[in-house]
Amino acid sequence: MPRITVTVDGVTYEEEVEPRLLLVHLLRDRLGRTGTPIGCDTTNCGACTVMLDGRSAKSCSVLAVQADGCDVLTIEGLAADGRLHPLQTAFHEEHALQCGYCTPGMIMAALDLLKEDPDPSEEAVREGLEGNLCRCTGYCNIVRAVRRGAQAMSGREVSAS
Ligand code: FES
Ligand code: FES
Repeated sequence: MPRITVTVDGVTYEEEVEPRLLLVHLLRDRLGRTGTPIGCDTTNCGACTVMLDGRSAKSCSVLAVQADGCDVLTIEGLAADGRLHPLQTAFHEEHALQCGYCTPGMIMAALDLLKEDPDPSEEAVREGLEGNLCRCTGYCNIVRAVRRGAQAMSGREVSAS
């Protein structure tokens, strides 16, 4: 079996993987990153989104062997020094989740969006997150949370919304 080296949330792993193994299964079943959920079998929902070498990727659409030599960031690597990432805090403060199933993917996709556009309009957030589905909250609070997180990340004053 192919042997790969992958860094996940700052920890480097060497794993033997079947060529057909999906990255999401490597993360969840082998490396214990169950904070990255699987929400569909059609690469449609975005729940499994992680950062792969600094860009968001649906980890159910990537083979583990394709992640050889890559740096993966999951929702579990986002908090630093026991403090939530500003996007995590914003999702909490804006009540941007109910069941929370979509939340890891939403936050990782938002992280990618904010790298490109640190101050996105509501429309830009909606467009940026169009590959991520939420079945329960609706999108208004999620959009507000992303914009609030963007403000916090850039040090701008966080407006009440
Ligand atoms: S589980 Fe990956 S897109 Fe739905
Ligand atoms: S909060 Fe339940 S799917 Fe989004």
